[in-house]
Amino acid sequence: MAKIPPGVGPRFPQVVVLFGATGDLARRKLLPGLFHLASAGFIPGCRIIGVSLDEYGVEEFRAAARSALDEFAARKVSDADWDTFAATLDYVPLTAGPAALRAAVDAAEATLAGESRRLHYLSVPPSAALSAVRMLGEAGLVERSRIVMEKPFGTDKASAVSLNARLHEVFAEEQIFRIDHFLGKEPAQNILAFRFANGLFEPIWNRNFIDHVQIDVPETLGLGKRSGFYEQTGAYRDMVVTHLFQILGFMAMEPPTSLEPAPISEEKNKVFRSMLPIQPSDVVRGQYNGYRQEDGVDPESETETFIALKCFIDNWRWAGVPFFLRTGKRLAEGQRIISIAFREPPKSMFPAGSGVGAQGPDHLTFDLADASKMSLSFYGKRPGPGMRLDKLSLQFAMHDTGLIGDVLEAYERLILDAMRGDRTLFTTAEGIERLWEVSTQLLEAPPPVRLYPPGSWGPKSIHQLIAPHAWRLPFERAWRDPNKSGG
Ligand code: BG6
Repeated sequence: MAKIPPGVGPRFPQVVVLFGATGDLARRKLLPGLFHLASAGFIPGCRIIGVSLDEYGVEEFRAAARSALDEFAARKVSDADWDTFAATLDYVPLTAGPAALRAAVDAAEATLAGESRRLHYLSVPPSAALSAVRMLGEAGLVERSRIVMEKPFGTDKASAVSLNARLHEVFAEEQIFRIDHFLGKEPAQNILAFRFANGLFEPIWNRNFIDHVQIDVPETLGLGKRSGFYEQTGAYRDMVVTHLFQILGFMAMEPPTSLEPAPISEEKNKVFRSMLPIQPSDVVRGQYNGYRQEDGVDPESETETFIALKCFIDNWRWAGVPFFLRTGKRLAEGQRIISIAFREPPKSMFPAGSGVGAQGPDHLTFDLADASKMSLSFYGKRPGPGMRLDKLSLQFAMHDTGLIGDVLEAYERLILDAMRGDRTLFTTAEGIERLWEVSTQLLEAPPPVRLYPPGSWGPKSIHQLIAPHAWRLPFERAWRDPNKSGG
């Protein structure tokens, strides 16, 4: 096992109280992530108390955690590691109440040597967040604790403001960590490194050189068991007002005065302050055929499972540059890209038919997958007589560094940061409230949902939305595969 460098993990052992412990996110990401952090030695000592509506006993919870690891852990789970981890798991059904939760935390703390800290993780929908906060208050579990709040934080501006106010009745702001796991993705942080550690790109990172930007996150996934959550949430609240806008913040912000939490948040929030309100006429909402027939979905549901929109950041750097965002469920491909299209040259001396400009503008593309990639595409001469041009590209894949095994999954990274009290990659109340504010017109008067066939790229009107440009996805040329020779 790789040795964990000192200072990477928290100083104190941790008791994690995981609300929503039997839910989808806990199964897919949080339990596998905690398992990896604990078994790889990132946390000096860790006990986990699951809380949820299921009337489980501790053994049933352990069995559920084991099956989650078998299904979703990225690395193989050895019997020895599992036995150690299983012994750290406890469970309290929500109905048992605050006193039972307190007793479980006391018992967990008694097993940890010396001083410890508490991390409350609320993996619950917005409607359930406050009752969990209240329960923690009544259980007397506020001291020595931090609380991680899952997105979406509220469902509109008024509910986000009120959630913040109620949260502050129990927890102080410095205890609150509003998570957006896209910011924990290695390639999202790499946007900061790429932009601010190099002199090459920053001079052209503005409206004089950039024509438009696309942030495109199609998913092939359906809803699984999440229809209850999704029906109330929809693609805009689930993905755009959260993940896609946060990525846009990193992509568009000014250089922060330092790489500290407050200056980074300040620059991101300035981007959000400059955002023009989203116009319903610049939005395409879609729903895949068959969604209304799924379990737990209203047969007349107007919830969108797809959204594409155009937005603008009205500041000196970006005025007039459209940002196109798209995401949805049951689409043709799963991808997470940011694609920056550069302006075309003002004049062309290449002969008609040379192919210049025929394959779109030059692009810089970031792939936000854990195994991140980057590509810069440009026109170059095709070998042989005459002057024929082809679209060529320079590509980088994280895979080439040989360090891919060191990548922490986004939730792992952020859980570790929260345990250490580092809020650099967390969102702020001010930023979130502003994003709800720019969303108000859309939330109040959403355009009707248009149906799209599962496995497609969304409703047809997405092409009108982006015209005269075109969506980068599906790619005309696939990424080079680093596993193939000559790649
Ligand atoms: C979650 C959304 O926050 O992000 C899901 O609730 C979505 O609907 C997921 O599928 C995508 O995350 P990732 O890391 O798999 O790209």
